Amino acid sequence: MADLIIDEPRLSDTSLAADRNDAKSVVFEGIGKLFGDAAALKNVDLSVARGEVFGIIGRSGAGKSTLLRLVNGLEKPSSGEVRVNGVSVGGLDERGLVALRRRIGMVFQHFNLLSAKTVRENIALPLKIAGVNKRDIDAKVDALLELVGLSAKRDAYPRSLSGGQKQRVGIARALVHDPDLLLCDEATSALDPETTQQILALLRDINRRLGLTVLLITHEMAVIREVCDSVAVIEAGEVVETGPVWRVFGDPHHAATQALLRTPVHDLPPDLAARLAAAPQDNADVLLDVRYTGESKQEPDLGALAVALGALGGRVNFVHGGIDRIQGHAQGRLVVSAQLRASGSNGAGLRAHVEALVAGARRHADKVEVLGYV
Ligand SMILES: Nc1ncnc2c1ncn2[C@@H]1O[C@H](COP(=O)(O)OP(=O)(O)O)[C@@H](O)[C@H]1O
Ligand SMILES: [Mg+2]
Repeated sequence: MADLIIDEPRLSDTSLAADRNDAKSVVFEGIGKLFGDAAALKNVDLSVARGEVFGIIGRSGAGKSTLLRLVNGLEKPSSGEVRVNGVSVGGLDERGLVALRRRIGMVFQHFNLLSAKTVRENIALPLKIAGVNKRDIDAKVDALLELVGLSAKRDAYPRSLSGGQKQRVGIARALVHDPDLLLCDEATSALDPETTQQILALLRDINRRLGLTVLLITHEMAVIREVCDSVAVIEAGEVVETGPVWRVFGDPHHAATQALLRTPVHDLPPDLAARLAAAPQDNADVLLDVRYTGESKQEPDLGALAVALGALGGRVNFVHGGIDRIQGHAQGRLVVSAQLRASGSNGAGLRAHVEALVAGARRHADKVEVLGYV
């Protein structure tokens, strides 16, 4: 590992810190990465703003880890450029890379702790290698243990720690050089849901308190939802969707995003799906898919929606769905049924009625579609 190089290039630290006024922490520009003939990444353009928590999500094999490894120069792009704090990673020599890696902390799924060393020694190791004196090391380790809430385990060995505690050690160790960027590759994937929540809260806290930029990879949507400001969805080596979390979640465009987001609320319950007819009939109910994407910043006004639909016909039922709040935006999907009037055998009259209902609902929601008739 490059971190083990004893001849430490301190001077280059300043050149890497020089462009800190740059609003971008990490920029990927036209990135392609080939392994042999296989393209692991294609035409990736992304930028991570300083101080944000940026999530990269995608299925296994999508290219997430490869993308992350380009940031600290563990992989080289086949084409394109990666810039960290305005500095092109490809233009750095070995010493420059070592200095860069000092500015970047990394947290892994499997913690990568040394089993024969105590918590304190694990965290202290990078500092020891960098030739920091014992007093400064002790002060730093104690401060970091405090930060990650693990002071009581200072002299424990990794085998006596829970998964969450091990990851706290991993996070503390990643912060020893006061990095301004933290890379997390599936940092919570080996943890149970409750511990995941705690580690995510810790990462969020560190992001806020230290002003650290966090680039976080996961295959779990819940992780993105919980802590990220922005998200990029990567599928087969390509970024298929990116933006603020609320926007991507509230109105996912790409099939990959929709698949990752899939929750019970996104599918019609089977009993309804089985009864769904394609054509309207007298006195049947039209099922409307009423969506709040958060785009309009309007609160879902169910009263107004019900009044608008009720004024046009008969009963109005809220059948299925719910509303979430992400980053202050109310969003979600409601399946609403509205009764159609009897109109004799006039199919055109029924269709006009359905159109009026859809138009009425649209005044109180971001998107409205007809799902069918029951
Ligand atoms: N060192 C490597 N040599 C050859 N193929 C690789 C290497 N690293 C990754 N790949 C391939 O690149 C693709 C993306 O891998 P990876 O970035 O690990 O995906 P993810 O982290 O999203 O699961 C996969 O098809 C993987 O097999
Ligand atoms: Mg991976």
